[in-house]
Amino acid sequence: MKVYIETYGCQMNEYDSEIVKSILREKAYALVDSAEEADIILLNTCSVRENASRKVIARVHALRHLDDGRKKIGLIGCMPTNHRRDLIADAKLPIDFIAGPDSYRRLPSLIEENRVSGLKTCDVRLSRSETYSDVHPFRTGGANGWIAVMRGCDNFCTFCVVPYTRGRERSRSVENVVAEARRLAAAGYKQVTVLGQNVNSYQHDGHDFAYLLDKISEVEGLQRIRFTSPHPKDFPTSLLKVVAENLKVCKHIHLPLQSGNSRILDLMNRTYGKEDYLALVDKIKSYYPAMALTTDIIVGFPTETDEEFADTVDVVRRVQFDAAFIFKYSERKGTIAARKYPDDVSEEKKTERIVRLNTLQKQISLAKNKAHVGQVEDVLIESLMTKKSPADMQGRNDGNKLVILPKGGGYDIGDFIKVRITDASAHVLKGVII
Ligand code: SAH
Ligand code: SF4
Ligand code: F3S
Repeated sequence: MKVYIETYGCQMNEYDSEIVKSILREKAYALVDSAEEADIILLNTCSVRENASRKVIARVHALRHLDDGRKKIGLIGCMPTNHRRDLIADAKLPIDFIAGPDSYRRLPSLIEENRVSGLKTCDVRLSRSETYSDVHPFRTGGANGWIAVMRGCDNFCTFCVVPYTRGRERSRSVENVVAEARRLAAAGYKQVTVLGQNVNSYQHDGHDFAYLLDKISEVEGLQRIRFTSPHPKDFPTSLLKVVAENLKVCKHIHLPLQSGNSRILDLMNRTYGKEDYLALVDKIKSYYPAMALTTDIIVGFPTETDEEFADTVDVVRRVQFDAAFIFKYSERKGTIAARKYPDDVSEEKKTERIVRLNTLQKQISLAKNKAHVGQVEDVLIESLMTKKSPADMQGRNDGNKLVILPKGGGYDIGDFIKVRITDASAHVLKGVII
């Protein structure tokens, strides 16, 4: 049987798709690169915002038009746990099986049971212990290797569906993670990105995330270590020291703000206020002034007023993020916010606020990027083409900014090169090999 997997959502899903590929290969499934060739199509789905779910449903219908109904389509990932009833009950949704993020070992049996019975099969049970720590993800190369070190989330931010789709927090052992990092280094990977819904909740046998990062950095051959995402409520000094001082750990922190207003942050159950966030940023900058900072922001959370939104604008102005991912609040069924707070900020207001923040952030990103012009930076090559040109290649600097440069020097994906930055826009740096 030939399987094709398409991945939506966050990097955790990217990693999980590699886990799923590994599990299926063990059972003698063959992996193929297109839906056309496949007998089984898996969509590894995201449910974090309504748009993400809508995209997947549209894709299912489009895929069904490809074939005469013989292909099996399965949804895996975050939609199955969140929308299990709708997905199973909706007779018009042409899918064959669903599996949640903790059920991937059961995929071969779900596929087989569906083949035998012709009925939709389902396993969306969440586990307190599953970390797939004995599964070696199936990777296909590139510059970066993902490693999920913890799964689940216990934070219950009121807007967020992740604690329901992925269940309780659990961490892998330090030795197990380091062994995976060693395998990556041995396979030629120069960079690892350490993943968790909330990496600073990592905890195993008394070891915390700062300790884990340090241990990973001791792996020979690895040159860059990234991580995502930490939560601003618990960013310990020990972790800040590792990020600031360890030469292999990239000088970039993705620090989700969500809102700059303390009342809204309280309704979101973020457990920090505006001043706490600003104080943490000051502390980060006192340890490492040039630290690249990026963030996530939600506009139009229920009851957010214009004045409260102005606090978010104020924080964005004061922090000067290198980049920000800004979203309109999207009500998610089953979350605390959906139960307690009506989605009462109008679509027009949400649009007005997102446009305003994006415009401001674009100016800030442009100014920050322009400041790189003339500098020489280490770039890890990720791709031998860009969206716009096959004559260019692209990679990332230490701060995770995309750098585009003309191909040359026989360099390949995974190579580190010294690049002089010659130009910058709000989204990319441009440079030449030196
Ligand atoms: N675990 C990560 C976030 C995962 S979701 C963390 O805490 O950093 C990625 C981002 O999606 C969140 O940071 C948030 O900004 C956004 N998001 C989550 N739920 C949302 C919702 N209901 N509506 C709009 N944006 C949402
Ligand atoms: Fe969602 Fe909050 Fe957990 Fe992030 S920390 S996954 S936003 S509940
Ligand atoms: Fe989406 Fe699940 Fe990731 S909801 S953002 S795929 S954890």
